[in-house]
Amino acid sequence: MTARILVLGATGTVGGELVSALVRKGCAVRGATRSPQAARSRSGDTVEWVPFDLERPETFGPALADVDRVFLIARPGDQHSDRVALPLIDAMKTQGVRHVVNLTAMGTEMREDFALRKIELYLEASGMEFTHLRPNWFMQMLASGTVQAGIRTTGTFGLPAADARISWIDARDISAVAAQALTTAGHAGRAYTLTGPEALDHHQIARVLSGVTGREIRYLPLDEDQARGALGAAGFPPEWVERLITFYRLIRAGFCAPVSPDVAAILGRPPAGFERFAAEHASAWM
Ligand SMILES: NC(=O)c1ccc[n+]([C@@H]2O[C@H](COP(=O)([O-])OP(=O)(O)OC[C@H]3O[C@@H](n4cnc5c(N)ncnc54)[C@H](OP(=O)(O)O)[C@@H]3O)[C@@H](O)[C@H]2O)c1
Repeated sequence: MTARILVLGATGTVGGELVSALVRKGCAVRGATRSPQAARSRSGDTVEWVPFDLERPETFGPALADVDRVFLIARPGDQHSDRVALPLIDAMKTQGVRHVVNLTAMGTEMREDFALRKIELYLEASGMEFTHLRPNWFMQMLASGTVQAGIRTTGTFGLPAADARISWIDARDISAVAAQALTTAGHAGRAYTLTGPEALDHHQIARVLSGVTGREIRYLPLDEDQARGALGAAGFPPEWVERLITFYRLIRAGFCAPVSPDVAAILGRPPAGFERFAAEHASAWM
């Protein structure tokens, strides 16, 4: 039986590109999703899709059968994602998984109380090989959700980021790094901080977006109360609002500005820059 790579979050931003990259490399890939039929109708037969739900532990065993490597993504947006991820790590060990490539976030190692850090530590203690991928904010966040909607309707986007800079990463580079970590030697026991090539503040982002769209796009710095009001009006639940406010405090304190050499070291080329991403996605803001 060919050993397979199980990709969690396989229909999402990072996992979707990772599945395609692994297929191109000729790997036997199994994609985990709560909706395998819909995924199959999009991808055809190149990927084996398996029903998988972090809230349904009975789906873990069948998804992990004949799997020796796993791309682990804890449930996005879940402040308590360790609750479901730790039993999953136990199941991986029981089923003989050899190596887990684990997506967390930049700075996770500094927050012992953080669910993603608990997952990292539990995985490290499991005895399986592990590689942590800790990315900064995705460029894709600017082309979706409330930022995209605000730009489309008003030509502005408001965030409580002040003039702080972020070394944004194109999520496709995270997928490329994950594919390398899953298929080449030398990544076990390593933790990589994944950023883009430069740190940009939101005024600079707005200037690039204005250039690629040909319309004036402006960034409006918000204070925390203004941001709370805007996020609440956009439909974010109060717990989410406070979580985002906390993330923006970290951004304003400069924690998201450092540029890491890890993407270039692993891929042998520089990470993609924001201008290219913006040019490719210009229609998102028009
Ligand atoms: N966005 C950022 O700027 C940023 C920055 C740093 C780190 N990160 C990390 O990146 C992660 C998000 O990655 P992403 O943007 O690629 O995710 P995404 O596009 O939001 O995709 C979410 C994926 O999670 C799966 N999923 C949701 N609930 C599930 C459940 N109960 N059981 C099993 N699967 C479930 C979905 O699968 P189905 O719907 O098909 O079941 C989908 O494939 C975050 O968790 C965070 O750790 C993000």
